[in-house]
Amino acid sequence: MSATERQILRLANAAAPAGFKQVAILPRTSSLKFSGLLSSSTHSEVTSLDSVSNADLIVVDKVLVSDGLVTKDGLQGGPLDSFLLSALTALNTGGVLVVREDLSQHANPRVTLPSLTDYVDVFRRDISGKYVGFDFYCAEQLDSSIHLTGNYLDFVWILRKKEFTPPAADAATVTFRDFLDKTQYTNTGIGAYEWMFGKDFISPGGYDENIRVLEQFGGFEYGAKMLDIGSGIGGGVRQAAAVYGLQVTGVDLSANMLSEAIVRIHDEKDSRVNYSICDAVTYDFGENVYDYIFSRDCIQHIPDQDALFKNIYKSLKPGGVVLITMYGKGKGAWTEAFKKYNDQRFYHLQTLDEVKERALKHGFEAVHVENMTERFREILTNERAHLEKEKADFFKNYTQAEFDSLYNGWSAKLKYIEADNHNWNLFRARKPAH
Ligand SMILES: C[S@@+](CC[C@H](N)C(=O)[O-])C[C@H]1O[C@@H](n2cnc3c(N)ncnc32)[C@H](O)[C@@H]1O
Repeated sequence: MSATERQILRLANAAAPAGFKQVAILPRTSSLKFSGLLSSSTHSEVTSLDSVSNADLIVVDKVLVSDGLVTKDGLQGGPLDSFLLSALTALNTGGVLVVREDLSQHANPRVTLPSLTDYVDVFRRDISGKYVGFDFYCAEQLDSSIHLTGNYLDFVWILRKKEFTPPAADAATVTFRDFLDKTQYTNTGIGAYEWMFGKDFISPGGYDENIRVLEQFGGFEYGAKMLDIGSGIGGGVRQAAAVYGLQVTGVDLSANMLSEAIVRIHDEKDSRVNYSICDAVTYDFGENVYDYIFSRDCIQHIPDQDALFKNIYKSLKPGGVVLITMYGKGKGAWTEAFKKYNDQRFYHLQTLDEVKERALKHGFEAVHVENMTERFREILTNERAHLEKEKADFFKNYTQAEFDSLYNGWSAKLKYIEADNHNWNLFRARKPAH
């Protein structure tokens, strides 16, 4: 009954709370036995998924790399498809597929990790007249590998079988993660953004601004626990651990973003940091877990703000503090350009008053909201000037089209600010101590 088995089972149970009666483990030689943890279930250790049916839980332990489905040249579409199809066929609807892979010896985890994540996220097939696929719960580092062997690339994917409605024939993307990874947060896009914002950050002002924002918590207790929602490539997470001595969990929906963060922490080996690729709205963080919850410029991406606030409230310890900066909306009538910008990104912008009202509705106290748009204007102006001045350096890695996209994007944001359409807002509140 190892720590790894416990972590896997906690995640699988969170994805499918009804529990597991029929369990299959592949391969027979796996050290994952879950002895004593799945006592009421029928257990089988198998050599192939073809012999499995009506399963509620399938655990596949280090098979994809060893069987050549994931190689140094990338994913092997045909064999990987057959494997995923047999897993879907073997599972009951609502059942969970757990895939564990150690990518530390793999040639290019920076590519393998997001490509495998994105692949399973959108894998859909017709099986016996039903259009089924995987509802992605998370892809997460195994804590015991971090702490026992300094391996930050030992991973588990938790995927729940679900029936879907087929997408429209002209749909460019299938899930919101797919949308983020294919549009705003492509690998090249992330690189160019990082050049603009500063090392390790995908948010205005980079490292120094993030320190200024973190200072607004009003101090930290050394060794306390922080959750960073939408942690991007991990600048804020690593800063909170290194500068303030916090234990920090970073979560992000984008596989491209978080894979970059994970590869960096694997090289750096700071065991105060861990990550999960997941949706902060649906992931079960547990109750009363974190002393601090932090989020930099993420929540404008999230449609169900009530579900998000509920999840934040639940996982904060009594007396814990949440601090969020976000893109917001001002009081000016929206220009056509701003409408288009907002629609293209599927943003859900709120006014300061809306944020405050929501926080009070969910039970927070000491609610503080602040309009930081003037600071945003200053940062954008400086960043655009820096791009102009250092364009020779920018062109070493990026194209004219990428330069234009950033330059014009920053200029457009300055116009949206001028029209009081685009705001940059801060929210801080406390969960009551009793
Ligand atoms: C502008 S970036 C900010 C990254 C980071 N906080 C920083 O300061 O560098 C916003 C991030 O929010 C993430 N995100 C969007 N929706 C999310 C969700 N539902 N759950 C977790 N992360 C999400 C995006 O993938 C993206 O990495």
